[in-house]
Amino acid sequence: MKDSYYEHIIHGGDYNPDQWIDTKEIWDEDMRLMDLAHVNSATVGIFSWSLTEPEEGVFNFGWLDEIMDKLQAHGKKVILATPSGARPPWLAEKYPEVLRVEESGMRNEFGVRHNHCLTSPVYREKVGIINRKLAERYKSHPALFMWHVSNEYSGECHCELCQQAFREWRKKEYDNDIEKLNFKWWGGFWSHRYTSFSQISSPKFRGENHVPALKLAWRRFVTDRHISFYENEIKPLRELTPDIPVTTNMMRFYTAFDYQKMSEKTDIVSWDNYPEWTAPDMLSVACETAFAHDIFRSMKNGKPFYMMESTPSVVNWRTENKLPESGVHELAAIQAVAHGADSVQYFQWRKSRGGHEKFHGAVVDHYGKEDTRVFKDTAKLGEALEKLDKAVGTRTKAKAAVICDWENSWAVEAYCGYRRDARDYFRSCQRWYRGFWERSVPVDVVPMDRDLSGYDIVAAPYLYMLKDGVEEKLCEYVENGGTLIATPLTGIVDRDDLCFLGGFPAGRLKDVFGVMCEETDSLYKDEESKVLYNGKEYFGRDLCDVLRPGTAKTEGTFLSGFYAGSPAVTRNVFGKGQAFYTAFCAGDDFIADLLLRIIKEKGLEPDINAALPKGVTARKRGELLYIMNFSREEQKISLEKEYTNHLTGEVIKDAVLPKNGYLILI
Ligand code: GAL
Repeated sequence: MKDSYYEHIIHGGDYNPDQWIDTKEIWDEDMRLMDLAHVNSATVGIFSWSLTEPEEGVFNFGWLDEIMDKLQAHGKKVILATPSGARPPWLAEKYPEVLRVEESGMRNEFGVRHNHCLTSPVYREKVGIINRKLAERYKSHPALFMWHVSNEYSGECHCELCQQAFREWRKKEYDNDIEKLNFKWWGGFWSHRYTSFSQISSPKFRGENHVPALKLAWRRFVTDRHISFYENEIKPLRELTPDIPVTTNMMRFYTAFDYQKMSEKTDIVSWDNYPEWTAPDMLSVACETAFAHDIFRSMKNGKPFYMMESTPSVVNWRTENKLPESGVHELAAIQAVAHGADSVQYFQWRKSRGGHEKFHGAVVDHYGKEDTRVFKDTAKLGEALEKLDKAVGTRTKAKAAVICDWENSWAVEAYCGYRRDARDYFRSCQRWYRGFWERSVPVDVVPMDRDLSGYDIVAAPYLYMLKDGVEEKLCEYVENGGTLIATPLTGIVDRDDLCFLGGFPAGRLKDVFGVMCEETDSLYKDEESKVLYNGKEYFGRDLCDVLRPGTAKTEGTFLSGFYAGSPAVTRNVFGKGQAFYTAFCAGDDFIADLLLRIIKEKGLEPDINAALPKGVTARKRGELLYIMNFSREEQKISLEKEYTNHLTGEVIKDAVLPKNGYLILI
């Protein structure tokens, strides 16, 4: 599989000429403006089904032919979308089964998008037909560059077709043996012994919602639905355009189905990035965004991803849609590239005139001309991106990883107990990620079943559920020389949410960590735990594991709770490696101190050796070093050696980074 598909960074975004079919002079103006904005690509046709197939079996590709030709004439790459995200009214009217049924059991009426059943044979057939037509028509078009399958797949359907498929799927997993299911789902609890698979249905608010194993099974099923729907979509594309890469755009930490699984089916991972850059703590927003980029980059072992959407100015869906300052858009785009993006794309090229998203930011405003702040910022960025060919296709090799796993997030959400309001799994992972990120140490963010052998350090926060084989994998990793870090509630349940017996963490992990967790304490909202480690006091929140020491050496102890004096930080040598157990939910300061110690011990190289001011981060990708200022103030930096500014050719050692500024050095 290739690492890059084009020699330049893709710069473009969602383009909806189908909305301007009655004012086609706008199309020519778009071409002129795209040239001026240094845009080299357009994503076309995402929501155009009602124009392309206005009646069942009647196809109208004239408009798309024209647009593809125009874009080709202007040297733009076309990312062509399949239109399944929103169906035409005739389809819903004629075949009501294509409409989604909500958890309540009510079938939706026509409207909005992502309002379709993922199982419906009719919907799959109709999507298959339109996708085949598109592939047949444009397979040889020189502008066709990539397939954008649907748009942000999401949601679930509870109709009878889906219920039936769910039951069949369960049957298959449990060899058609209902007793196997009863055992795995702990059917003796609350009289839940099923006698037939027909008694099973999706988790529902007004039905079964207290069986965590059912909730996990449903999420896996919803994942399976999306993947099989996607596979149906791409069948004609693969058949007719085998050389054209396929992607489907994802949404940050959206967990209704497993993105890590879905990513295996795409040629290139793509995601839509909408951070709240105007929030008071810009550095934390930058950290969260970097974390997300690294999740998507890590899905394919570091292969570059596409940032399929972002806004060049503002969104329209927050309560307050505050305008970002100048420079922020450019900085955010450069951050994406620094973290592995081979594209900077927008929703949207031009603001729609009507409809729900007419006030969403776009490169071209209703005003329509190029002399706006946003347009000028975009064009300036486009020029900079044209100088980044060196970045394209390059991977980052990280020696550290944070485990952040979609399935585990479901299990964490599903249990009842402990601190019920403090179970933000992604935030827990991000906290450990930050310990590497702020020190400019490259880090991958991987699912729990990934091969860990290439990593020197693996942090596994809140690893509550262990998929089959993960216990052994972690043991092997440490045995062979790895450093593993765990936090409260590690290794508690198996993939079906059955608790491991014989003490936590599961099985041999007790030997790996050299401790056993006997109890877990939940703190009140404003309560803090207090820990003494290395002569310094640290504070934690939410959860504390009460550990029974084994072979591990206690390095830190609790100063709070009835368990004061018991181990809060332990280190165990196991095989050629070591395993740390941090029995409290530590804050940034402890994580930073512990990680720094291990980073030094293991000799992990940061991307830059100079000390950077707070709020300034660095990231190396390929030969280029990106320094980014998220501090909201001008910053002076002093580099450890002379670099060349890759964009201007100037030689730099000491530099002033303006507010929202960045440098790309070589
Ligand atoms: C995305 C979506 C786009 C547009 C955008 C607005 O999630 O894919 O079609 O709605 O949000 O921010």
